[in-house]
Amino acid sequence: MITLNVDLEERSYPIFIGQDLLDDKSLISPYVSGKQVVIVTNETIAPLYLDKVFALFSDYQCETVILPDGEIYKTYEGILPIIDRLMEKQFDRRVTLVALGGGVIGDMTGYAAAIYRRGVNFIQIPTTLLAQVDSSVGGKTGVNHPLGKNMIGAFHQPQCVLADTNTLNTLDDRQLSAGLAEVIKYALINSKEFFVWLNNNMPALKDRESEALAYAIEFSCRDKAEVVAADEKEAGQRALLNLGHTFGHAIETGLGYGNCLHGEAVAIGMIMAADLSVRHGWIDQSVQQQIIELIGAANLPTQVPTTHNVKISVKQFIDLMAGDKKVLDGQLHLILLNTLGNSFITADFELDKLKQTLEAFATG
Ligand code: NAD
Ligand code: GLY
Repeated sequence: MITLNVDLEERSYPIFIGQDLLDDKSLISPYVSGKQVVIVTNETIAPLYLDKVFALFSDYQCETVILPDGEIYKTYEGILPIIDRLMEKQFDRRVTLVALGGGVIGDMTGYAAAIYRRGVNFIQIPTTLLAQVDSSVGGKTGVNHPLGKNMIGAFHQPQCVLADTNTLNTLDDRQLSAGLAEVIKYALINSKEFFVWLNNNMPALKDRESEALAYAIEFSCRDKAEVVAADEKEAGQRALLNLGHTFGHAIETGLGYGNCLHGEAVAIGMIMAADLSVRHGWIDQSVQQQIIELIGAANLPTQVPTTHNVKISVKQFIDLMAGDKKVLDGQLHLILLNTLGNSFITADFELDKLKQTLEAFATG
C-alpha cells in the first residue's frame, strides 16, 4: 500500500492506494469520528461493492443511499435523497458520509456533506480510474447546472481517500480510458518524463497491469496533493489542473451531460488547448501531434464526437466558455502549453486565434 498526504494543516488527510484495501476495517475506522455512517453509491456500484463496504462499518449505525447512475443525475435535486435520509434518521453533526463510486458520486456526496448541518465529515472510496487519480482528492465538490458544469458547489475536504485498485477490474474499457485522460493531463501540466513514461506504458495501462496502474495513480495523486496543498481554493496554480477543462466542459454541456464522458471531453479539450498554443507559436505542431497520438493510444476521442446527433457550434462554444469559472472580471483565462510538459494560465491570447481553434473543432 502507498500512503500519500494532502498537507492542509488541521484539514490534512491521507490517500491510501493499493489492492484489497476494502478488506481492512482498521484502515478506515480512525477517520470516522461519530457513530453514524451513510454510504452513498449508485445502482451500478452497489451490487459490486456495497456489501464489502457495509462490512467495514459493522460497528456503526450505518445507512445506505443508492442513487441512479449517470452524470445527468448530478444535479441539485439529485442530492436531495441523501439530505432526506440524513434528516429522516436525524443524523447529527458527527455523521460521516462515505462516497462509494466514481467522480459523480464523489462530487455529489461531498457536496451533501458540505451543506448538511453546515458541514459534516466524509470519506472518499473512489472506484473509477478518474476518481482515483483526480476527483477524490482536493475537496472540490458540487453538482451541474443545465447551463454549466460544476457550477454549484463547495470546497470541502474529505477525512481520507481509500483507493482500492482492485475495483478497477470491473470498470469497462471506455471508463478506464476516460480516467487515462486525467492521467495524461498531469504529464502535460508539468512532466515530460511522465509523458514519455505514458507513451511507453500505454499498452500496460490499457491491459490494467497492476504495477503500471499503481504508478500512474501514485504519480497523479502525488502531483495533485502537492498542488492542492499549495493552493487549496484555486487562487493561482491549482487552475493548471483545469488544462483542457474550459473547452471540455463546453463540450460536455453542449452535447448534453453523459453523451461525452468527462474524461473524453477533457481529452479533446487538451488537444484544443494544444491547437491554440500552436496557433500562437508557443509549441510546435509536432508537439500537438505527439499529444494527439498519446490520447489516441489511450483509446480516447481526438475530435468532438457526432455520434449522438447533437452538434456544437462556434457560438455555443463561445457562450458556454463565457460562463466558465475561469472568467474573472469578464475576462476568460485559459490553460495553454509552452512546451511538452509545461502549462501556464493566461488571459493573453488572441481572440482571432481562439476562434480559429473553435472553428477547427466545432461540429455544427
Ligand atoms: P462516473 O462517476 O459517472 O463513473 C463512470 C461509470 O462507471 C458510472 O456508470 C459508474 O456507475 C461506473 N462505475 C464506477 N465504478 C465502477 C467500478 N468499479 N466498476 C464498474 N463500474 C463502475 O464518472 P467518473 O469518470 O468517475 O467521474 C466523472 C465526474 O467527476 C464528472 O462529473 C466530473 O465533473 C467529476 N470530476 C470532479 C473532479 C473534482 O476535483 N471534484 C475532478 C475531475 C472530475
Ligand atoms: N480537477 C481540477 C481540480 O481539482 O482542481
